[in-house]
Amino acid sequence: MKKELTKEQKKEAYDVMEMWEDDVLQRYPENQEKAKEEFRNYDAPGIDTVKQFYKTNHEFQTYDFVLGKEKQYLSLNMREMKLWDAVEFLNTLVDDSDPDTDLDQTQHLLQTSEAIRADGHPDWFVLTGFLHDLGKVLCLFGEPQWAVVGDTFPVGCKFSDKIVYPEFFSLNPDSTNKDYNTKYGVYEEHCGLDNVHMSWGHDEYIYHIMKDYLPEEGLAMLRYHSFYSQHRENAYDHLMVKHDHEMFKWVDTFNKYDLYSKAAVPPNVKELRPYYEDLAAKFLPDTLKF
Ligand SMILES: [Fe+2]
Ligand SMILES: [Fe+2]
Repeated sequence: MKKELTKEQKKEAYDVMEMWEDDVLQRYPENQEKAKEEFRNYDAPGIDTVKQFYKTNHEFQTYDFVLGKEKQYLSLNMREMKLWDAVEFLNTLVDDSDPDTDLDQTQHLLQTSEAIRADGHPDWFVLTGFLHDLGKVLCLFGEPQWAVVGDTFPVGCKFSDKIVYPEFFSLNPDSTNKDYNTKYGVYEEHCGLDNVHMSWGHDEYIYHIMKDYLPEEGLAMLRYHSFYSQHRENAYDHLMVKHDHEMFKWVDTFNKYDLYSKAAVPPNVKELRPYYEDLAAKFLPDTLKF
């Protein structure tokens, strides 16, 4: 296994994650008017960071890269952890004493799941909310941020111009590869998303970790929660089947909790832990394979 990340590297990874999530919020504000007034404006270097992030992501997420990462990670032999150890492991990405930090990773998970719980949704949905970003441990396994977070999209076929910063796909060698640059590429019309390879990141990874334990609606939420070009722009209807559309109703429902569940008071991790450990015991094995 790779060497542990330095404190600076962890901080950088955390900052990029926050930057991406802020950028998604700017693109898809909960309330257009309020967003214009209230949301913090990026200064020029901020925009450069966002652009640079997508540029790298779009350049390097090729079909071959994705197949390589699937091979590397989807046998789930990185490490075995109890759920709470994984939660704490992910949380090492941020230093508690950092005054710029809004919420740590555990609080983001709990904020999402607590909002789902408060609305009276079923327990598997609450648990899905709690688990949804655990795949970000990829950062701690040494993956660069552009291969952990960011909008996800199908590879192996034409990149949609509905994906954020589509112009950067000109840097991706698949854009000029005739096997991959047509509407359907390596796929067939309405082949179903199960047959489609998505750009590599925390969504696909956590889906595979949980695939035997949650209902399919929850699994769709995990797997496609960063697939904004589909769940917000319907850019890939031509690859989907009716069942995918059914599942995406759940993805849409979930997305609102992921983006807009900012609680007035940050969740109390210590108080909530027993509830989530009980919930996990209901659905998950004692240890999880990452
Ligand atoms: Fe996420
Ligand atoms: Fe999230």
